[in-house]
Amino acid sequence: MNSTPLDKKTAFITGAARGIGYAIAHRFAEEGANVVLTDVNDELNEQSAERINKEFGQRALALHCDVANRSSVDAAIARTIDEFGGLNIVVCNAGICPFVNFLELDNTTWQRTIDVILTGSFNVSQAGARAMIAKGVTQGRIIFITSGSTIQASGTQVDYAAAKSGVRMMMASMSTMLPKLGITANAISPGVVHTEMGAFHWDVPEHRAEFARTNPVPRLASPADIANAAVFLASDASEYINGASIRVDGGLMPIG
Ligand SMILES: NC(=O)c1ccc[n+]([C@@H]2O[C@H](COP(=O)([O-])OP(=O)(O)OC[C@H]3O[C@@H](n4cnc5c(N)ncnc54)[C@H](O)[C@@H]3O)[C@@H](O)[C@H]2O)c1
Repeated sequence: MNSTPLDKKTAFITGAARGIGYAIAHRFAEEGANVVLTDVNDELNEQSAERINKEFGQRALALHCDVANRSSVDAAIARTIDEFGGLNIVVCNAGICPFVNFLELDNTTWQRTIDVILTGSFNVSQAGARAMIAKGVTQGRIIFITSGSTIQASGTQVDYAAAKSGVRMMMASMSTMLPKLGITANAISPGVVHTEMGAFHWDVPEHRAEFARTNPVPRLASPADIANAAVFLASDASEYINGASIRVDGGLMPIG
């Protein structure tokens, strides 16, 4: 029996230099996995991998990977296989959220959000699935970080909600055929997580206090809350969970 749930597994995580992606890489390493931290912010990504290596021994590798660029994704997946000999877990986490009002949203911003979130998740999940299948994976995992914006609408998240909703249905679609090839696909749908992404709003103590007053679990999520769910989905214990979207939002959206 494995000593830790992710012992001897290799995980590829996008947008891992900071925030939720970093928390997932950190927790996976803590649970015994080799972790490949990928991001476009190379300097921060190197520092983040180094921090994990200092804490848990040499098990983290930092790689440049722009999820919107297919050749960048293919190169990072190939390097992962070269370094670790296989791949078990892919986490499609990288994302941007421009927070632009619908009437001011220009085509360039719209397209970039779609490219990073929707096309990026396609690029990484397909390249990762192909690599896992080529290696004869069993207990392979693809985990998408989607968002409560797939069920709760906002006029400043039109592009973001469209992209995340696409990812959710893309996940469900691939989940109908991947398990017979040794892989499950699932999504984690966070509510509000205190990271750089929404810091302009959530760094204000009054805004956090108001959220805590109205949310059933009276606080924002931390990146670790999302990472804990990711550990479970990545582990063999989640074998029969497939095509699911799991809310980690403290009850913000109790149905959906
Ligand atoms: N923070 C929240 O409240 C919240 C809520 C729901 C969902 N999410 C989702 O969780 C994920 C992580 O968000 P976060 O809060 O940690 O954000 P963050 O901004 O702190 O981190 C995002 C990371 O993605 C990287 N990134 C951006 N574009 C990239 C690209 N093209 N290729 C590779 N990496 C790229 C960034 O450099 C950064 O390191 C995102 O998909 C986000 O949409 C966040």
